Amino acid sequence: MFACNSCGYKSIKWLGKCPVCESWESFIEEEVLISKNGPEWLSSRPTLLKEVSSQKTERISTRIAELDKVLGGGLVRGEVILVGGEPGVGKSTLLLETGSKLSEVSKVLYVSAEESTEQVSLRAKRLNISADNLYFLNEDNLENIYRHLKEEKFDFLIVDSIQAVCHPGINAQKGSVSQIKGCADFLTRIAKTSGVVVFIVGHVTKDGSIAGPKLLEHIVDCVLYFESEILSTYRILRATKNRFGPAGELAAFEMTSLGLREVKSLFDLFLPHKDKTIAGSCIVCVVEGIRPIILELQSLAGRSGFGMVRRRSIGFDFNRFCLLIAIIEKRLKIPLSSEDVFFNVSGGIKINDPSADLGACLAIISSYKEKTTPLGFIFLGEVGLGAEIRPISNINLRLKAIKRGGIFKKVFIPQVNLKEVEVNLGDVKIKGVSALKEVVQEIWE
Ligand SMILES: Nc1ncnc2c1ncn2[C@@H]1O[C@H](COP(=O)(O)OP(=O)(O)OP(=O)(O)O)[C@@H](O)[C@H]1O
Ligand SMILES: [Mg+2]
Ligand SMILES: [Zn+2]
Repeated sequence: MFACNSCGYKSIKWLGKCPVCESWESFIEEEVLISKNGPEWLSSRPTLLKEVSSQKTERISTRIAELDKVLGGGLVRGEVILVGGEPGVGKSTLLLETGSKLSEVSKVLYVSAEESTEQVSLRAKRLNISADNLYFLNEDNLENIYRHLKEEKFDFLIVDSIQAVCHPGINAQKGSVSQIKGCADFLTRIAKTSGVVVFIVGHVTKDGSIAGPKLLEHIVDCVLYFESEILSTYRILRATKNRFGPAGELAAFEMTSLGLREVKSLFDLFLPHKDKTIAGSCIVCVVEGIRPIILELQSLAGRSGFGMVRRRSIGFDFNRFCLLIAIIEKRLKIPLSSEDVFFNVSGGIKINDPSADLGACLAIISSYKEKTTPLGFIFLGEVGLGAEIRPISNINLRLKAIKRGGIFKKVFIPQVNLKEVEVNLGDVKIKGVSALKEVVQEIWE
């Protein structure tokens, strides 16, 4: 059989291009022979749900407050967590620190198939980790790992990384689709039958998805992505899937020579210009998961020196960005077709919340007009194709965050959302708007 390395599609002959995910040269030959005699030690018996002791269903704190938050309040016994991220972003560092914290109360086994004992110990020294109950194993054979786990009765297992381990019962190359899926299956069964919490590191491919089939994400309970912008020391940890908590929840860390430092207030990170404002900048409040984040959007529009205009967006969906430019051009009659437009979300975060549309449009217009948005103004609203302002979700959650911020004077929200407002905003003025034009006129004309 041949299998596609990126989506898991199987074919009996080699293909240059995958018909499903359209990646090139992704097919790898593999022989699939999973041993028929099933693992007896893993079989479980039916239990009455009400008889499961409450102690076994309690949340386990990782002792890293921000990580607990992303996990939805802590770990659950038998949970399998996949941590994905680009090379060098700090996956091993995060898990070594987590392992050391967890080892203060339980026995933790850190397995690295990629790094030697000396390398990991060197990192532990640098991070100043003193862990009395943290065990290390340099091994890539899952059966051996399981043997040690059973003999020594560990409560937590960290596997760095899923692409570097293999199971002898699966007759396929290390890192192949069958191996990755088989190993993840095996680890999941260990977790579910024994209650061990398993952390799995997964490398990501060029397009940012976890290498190996998408299936990997279905197998595990929780998928955490560790991301950063190039050259930034800030790292964002985001839950893209969570069976035991809200997905989309995120936390910020700063990478220092002494390891990862939790960034408690996301406020400072994303608001570089708190007490002055510049043309092309606009403040918005997005909700990622269940957390409202106030951040600054920045745009730079300038006459193009070439025949072709350049459009770039960082942290904001590119198609949506182009759509907003088209809307501004058509509905507000602002000629952007010969302007280069660049767009950036401060703090190196990627946002998906449509409520940032209004702020994004104003940042672009502000840069084009060379006029600043007034200091202390914040803008919420989705922009439709007719440049109308559409309603957004979680309005009270956002307004609470804005009030807590304490530096805002006026907030613009969609007219439709006005009747839902329950928060007493105090000194902050609130204004309902129904069209982009209305906002532009109000602040600049
Ligand atoms: N002395 C140091 N001072 C500051 N930061 C450091 C130092 N040494 C390493 N780092 C940081 O640690 C990062 C590497 O962390 P780590 O090895 O945990 O990443 P990883 O995601 O596991 O990488 P890989 O994919 O290669 O396994 C580097 O990118 C660097 O930012
Ligand atoms: Mg690593
Ligand atoms: Zn494919």
